[in-house]
Amino acid sequence: MIEFRCLDRGEMGTRPAKLHTPDTPDYRNDADKRIVFKGRRMNELRGEDFWLQWRDVLSEQFYSSASVSSKKNEDVSLKHCVCYGLGNFASCISARYQLAMLLLLLETLQIPVGSCCVYDPAFSVSECNALRELGFDVSAENEEGKRAVSQPTLFYLMHCGKALYNNLLWKNWSPQTLPKIVIIGNSFHGIQERMLQREFERDYSFLSNVIRVCEETSLPCSQRFLDVFNDTALVQFPPGNLNRLADCTWTETSEPLYQHCKDLEIILRDKHC
Ligand SMILES: C[S@@+](CC[C@H](N)C(=O)[O-])C[C@H]1O[C@@H](n2cnc3c(N)ncnc32)[C@H](O)[C@@H]1O
Repeated sequence: MIEFRCLDRGEMGTRPAKLHTPDTPDYRNDADKRIVFKGRRMNELRGEDFWLQWRDVLSEQFYSSASVSSKKNEDVSLKHCVCYGLGNFASCISARYQLAMLLLLLETLQIPVGSCCVYDPAFSVSECNALRELGFDVSAENEEGKRAVSQPTLFYLMHCGKALYNNLLWKNWSPQTLPKIVIIGNSFHGIQERMLQREFERDYSFLSNVIRVCEETSLPCSQRFLDVFNDTALVQFPPGNLNRLADCTWTETSEPLYQHCKDLEIILRDKHC
């Protein structure tokens, strides 16, 4: 059987890329089978202890009718979701479980699948079609993570390049807007630990400025899913914490250019056609 690799994570994750096998062609072409696979993987995750912990963290943080009740942020009701960098789920088992987790999160937070925008420049035409069949809003535009939010929005970025996070922060860089962003993705502290502090501050200034004041809750995973969900955290930006940043932090808002980055890790707009 042919074997191939996921895109190299470089510094993005803490584990090496894993060998995996492609699906059979009829999986990719058969919508019914896909929906059965989807349900099976969601149920597998539902049975995992670590999912119950994720669910408890969400319950603690967000209000969303009966299934998730909030203690902390009564006013944060997530209605939208954006998923970048899911990867080639037709051929990569990790991306497939990440997709199942995304569906589980949407179900739990009661965000309609149609209110979730997904984008990855690596998606094939059949993957875009599969996502549309599942009800997702599939974007064709490479925003490089520069998505402005006006309503509380969950960003799901599993093992994504640092520039996507930094760009997202840049685009929403104000003490009024950042609290509307909730991220499930790489731990910001994990990112910082894997970099030289000097380069972190020079290349990812929005990440490095906010790291002191963001609220990060680690989302655990079992040994079996280490490759899929390692280094994951829920990251939020409470207004009270943001007010601790010096005023000048909010006025330095030039668009990040990454001129000094040797390996940018993300695909830029003009490089993708
Ligand atoms: C290291 S892979 C992670 C894939 C998958 N989530 C996983 O954990 O196996 C990073 C992903 O980010 C995607 N990516 C790169 N540039 C992007 C961009 N500008 N917008 C959205 N996704 C991007 C890549 O195509 C790739 O699928």
